[in-house]
Amino acid sequence: MVLQAIKYSRGQLEILDQLKLPHQEEYDHIYSSTDAWHAIKEMRTRGAPAIAIVAALALAVELVNMKLPAAAEEVQVFILEKLDYLVTSRPTAVNLADAARKLKKTTEDAAAKEGADGSSVREAYVAAADKMLVDDVSDNENIGKHGAEWIVKNTAAGRQGKVSMVTHCNTGSLATAGYGTALGVIRALHAQGALKHAFCTETRPYNQGSRLTAFELVHDHIPATLVTDSMAAALLRLKGGSENIAAIVVGADRVAANGDTANKIGTYSLAILARHHGVKFLVAAPRTTIDLSTESGSDIVIEERPGQEVTLAKGPRHDGATLDLAVVETVSIAAHGIGVWNPAFDVTPAELIDGIITEVGVVEKDSDGVFHLQGVFGTGGAEAKPSTIGGI
Ligand code: MRU
Repeated sequence: MVLQAIKYSRGQLEILDQLKLPHQEEYDHIYSSTDAWHAIKEMRTRGAPAIAIVAALALAVELVNMKLPAAAEEVQVFILEKLDYLVTSRPTAVNLADAARKLKKTTEDAAAKEGADGSSVREAYVAAADKMLVDDVSDNENIGKHGAEWIVKNTAAGRQGKVSMVTHCNTGSLATAGYGTALGVIRALHAQGALKHAFCTETRPYNQGSRLTAFELVHDHIPATLVTDSMAAALLRLKGGSENIAAIVVGADRVAANGDTANKIGTYSLAILARHHGVKFLVAAPRTTIDLSTESGSDIVIEERPGQEVTLAKGPRHDGATLDLAVVETVSIAAHGIGVWNPAFDVTPAELIDGIITEVGVVEKDSDGVFHLQGVFGTGGAEAKPSTIGGI
């Protein structure tokens, strides 16, 4: 059965509550943009592409079910205000801001059309939001295809035989409309019989790795092992050779124009480890995550989250032998009174990134060590064309 984090049909949206995973699979109804804002803020839904899609679809659902004003302009104002509000839910992932910008343009164009009314503006918005859901899945499948191909051809491990991969956070079906970005690359390697083993990090403090990626890997019967974040260096040193580890592959919340990449906290450390141990470090992200208007990583706003995410842990009771799903407990795991710093993301400098896997190909740096990301948008001239295998 395919894992579905977002269930959508016209006028109806449900999201899999990711706070209850991996133990319980419960869906929450999302009726409005306010519901979506809270679901995103509380991380019941998360992952850069999923956040954008849930926000876009929530507003589509609200528009379909509300008593719609007759005037095109009134509906336009309503949509634009709701999109601005949705963008305030979480600041770092650019996909939501990118989706809002595109949906605003669609709305404005529809409202400016001869004979436009409230209903025609709504329909234009809903069609564009629906398309985002469909496009994200096919983009991810292409990311998987290009990434797997690149790894097999461009890594020493890939040329030797089946490869093992390390990944961080959750970038799979739960973080996207389906299939996933970095986890999509691992899925694609597995599907073509080229994967030996996947290693996923726990991803403290929110445990997207142990709760969500591990859940997806088990669900898909992909051979996999969980390690804590602090074990990554030892993993590369002690098992890099025997496991034929080819690369660390991660997702992204925002890729700046120079290739600097904001992603889940801990990504930067993994990039340093990859360089030290001579394995490739790859970022897998759709073009909706590439933000050419952000010059470099220092311009990216990093979300800071409550300290309690570090000092408390929540889950069903386990008495050492059995799990009791009926009793969910919160336990304290840090000294009372300690101060906490909890940045949700960090920035990996482009220098440490070997390739950015997109749905149109893998972008590598030129001989001067510079990424030319304009190439993936089909702009920037021949000299800006990235080195890729994806036929850009
Ligand atoms: O805080 P989260 O769980 O939303 O962070 C998610 C990540 O950092 C992912 O790696 C990123 O959004 C890419 S998901 C395809």
